[in-house]
Order: sequence, then C-alpha cells, then structure tokens
Amino acid sequence: MLSYISAKEAAEKWNISQRRVAILCGENRIDGAMMVGNMWIIPSNAEKPIDKRTVRRETERKITLKPFVKWVGGKGQLIDELEKMLPSNGDKVLTKYCEPMVGGGALLFNVLSKYNFSELYISDINPELINAYNVIKENADTLIARLKEMQLNFLPMDDNGRKFFYYSVRDKFNSTQLTAETSAEKAAYFIFLNKTCFNGLYRVNRKGQFNVPMGAYKNPTICDEENLLNISGALQNVTIVCGDYSLSKKFIDKNTFVYLDPPYRPISETSGFTSYNADAFDDAEQIRLSEFIDDINSTGAKIVLSNSDPQNIDPDDRFFDDLYKSYSIRRVSACRMINSNADRRGKINELIISN
Ligand SMILES: C[S@@+](CC[C@H](N)C(=O)[O-])C[C@H]1O[C@@H](n2cnc3c(N)ncnc32)[C@H](O)[C@@H]1O
Repeated sequence: MLSYISAKEAAEKWNISQRRVAILCGENRIDGAMMVGNMWIIPSNAEKPIDKRTVRRETERKITLKPFVKWVGGKGQLIDELEKMLPSNGDKVLTKYCEPMVGGGALLFNVLSKYNFSELYISDINPELINAYNVIKENADTLIARLKEMQLNFLPMDDNGRKFFYYSVRDKFNSTQLTAETSAEKAAYFIFLNKTCFNGLYRVNRKGQFNVPMGAYKNPTICDEENLLNISGALQNVTIVCGDYSLSKKFIDKNTFVYLDPPYRPISETSGFTSYNADAFDDAEQIRLSEFIDDINSTGAKIVLSNSDPQNIDPDDRFFDDLYKSYSIRRVSACRMINSNADRRGKINELIISN
C-alpha cells in the first residue's frame, strides 16, 4: 500500500523549506502529491523534483551574480584582495564556505559565480535582509512579479508622485509584521526601498522602524529579474540563517573557509557613530568576535576577517593590532565612505586579518 508523508517531513527529507514543498506540489511537480484538507501529503517514495533553477544554473555555467542590494560596508572594493585568499577550485581540504555576517554578500556572490564549494552557510542578524535571501531562494517568481509591478508604477512618476509612493511603501514596510504570509511582500518592499532610498542605507530608529529618506536616483533598477533568478538558482545549495554569527560554529570545521566582515568599530566621540546606531559594533563586540575567532581557529578552519583600520583616523590606535596579534594583519587601500557624509569619502586602509 502506498504510504504518505507530510509536507513537513518531505521538507526535512529533501532539505528544502515547507513552503517550497507546497509550491512544488501546487505546480504538479511531485507525482502523487494530494491535498487533504488544507495540507499536502506526498508519497513517501517520491523523488525530490529537479529544481528548474538548479538546472538553469548547471546548464549555464559561469553566470556572474551581483549583490541584489547595496549594503553599507559592502566589500566590492576589496574583492580582488579577498579572492587571493580563497582556495582554488578543486581544493581537497577547503570544501565548505561560511559567511556569518553576509550583508549584501559581495564576496558570497563572487564565490557563487566562480567557485564550487560543496556546502555553503550564510547568516546575518538583520531579519529583513535574511528574509530577502530566503524569498529569493524559495519564492523568486512572486518576488519578481511584485518588484516589476512597483517598478512599472514608480519609474514613470514625477518627483511628487515618487515621493508619495516611496513613503507609502516605507510605511507599509514598517507596519507589516514579518510572517510566512508576508515574507514575499516584505522582501519586495525591502528591495524597493534599498534601490530608491538615500545611498542604499539600511537604518532603523529606536523602535526598529526603517527611517531612511528617499534617494535621488533618476532611473533605479528595482527589478533585475535575470540576476534574481540566477541568485535563486545559486542559493539552492546554501543554508541561510538569521541570527548571531556564533551560530555558525556548528557548521565550521577544518574543511571550512570562513569570511567575517563585521560592522565598523565606532572610532571616537566626534565621529558621529556614538549617536544611536542599531548596528554599533563597539569594542566589547569586537572583543567578543575575536574570542569567537580564536574558538573557530582551533578547529583548523581557514579564517579571513576584514575591518576598517582605526589608524585612518588615529595613527596610534593599535586596537586591532593588539586584539589579533597572533594572526596575520595586512593593510590594503580601499576607497569608501567612512561615515554617511559624502564629503568623508576617500582612500583609506582596510585591514585583512587571517590565520
Ligand atoms: C559590514 S556589513 C557586511 C557587508 C558585506 N561584507 C557586504 O559585502 O555587503 C556587516 C553585517 O554584519 C551584520 N551583523 C551585525 N551584527 C551581527 C551579529 N552579531 N551576527 C551576525 N551578523 C551581524 C550586519 O547586519 C551587517 O549586515
């Protein structure tokens, strides 16, 4: 007699989400799946359907993936330097990739475009960002439809129309709680706001509400359908976690390449960073991170950490030199903003710390 398993059991068995199982059942991609009441049941011997997006990725090799959001501290500038530290394809030891503070994922997307790690793990503490990664992985079509609609409405508008539209999306984003039902809608708002807000900043007030004003882009690409679909395919092999970087400890072992890129350390009372900042990564946090790094160092993992160099501001500041004295520290030149004032842009050093 044919036996059945629940969508939850199938999700566990195939290492995909329950939502993805429901979508596959709804698309008739699982032979013998049936709706009973409001739940899907699946023949226990059903095979995991081959994912269209994975097929697309496997057949079109060497697709260049780009970050789907602009992110403060994005490491686009440092990619060449970071790439030098990556294991070459086919490395027998470093077969796993872990980026526990992934942000916009400049290095992640480079890695997904060019390298063949067998297992990948990403995380971030920002739930809206991680929701966007998850929705791109699981439900890209719905996301793309919503973004296209917003793009079609927004771009032809005049300045006043765009302002009204932007602030009403911002209000909806802030008033909609993130749940399984609202996840695609919230990911669409999140990406729309990122593409149209001032400098692509993500900043929240004390109540956790996104409060960045509208930016002044003439023709922002709100829906890059091709990139989103390609990312969706590439993320099928990636474990995505919302939470503290320390959760990645379970994943990390001697076969893992770990890249950590924490938020900037607040430098001085006058730098403006001491005002309220949900992302503050103060000295105590930097020390906690260094202890985590010592901990995972003992597993034999290859670890690379980037940080802004406090000596850009105070040549005598040896905070990171002391904290990571038993690691290799390189100073590399990068061009980026050191705070949100455009007039503070310039060439500065970044630290690349590794074991
Ligand atoms: C400098 S950004 C990373 C930028 C990224 N490398 C890129 O290319 O866009 C730092 C990230 O760390 C995340 N973060 C802050 N505290 C964290 C924590 N305790 N655990 C995990 N992620 C954290 C922030 O949300 C932010 O996305």
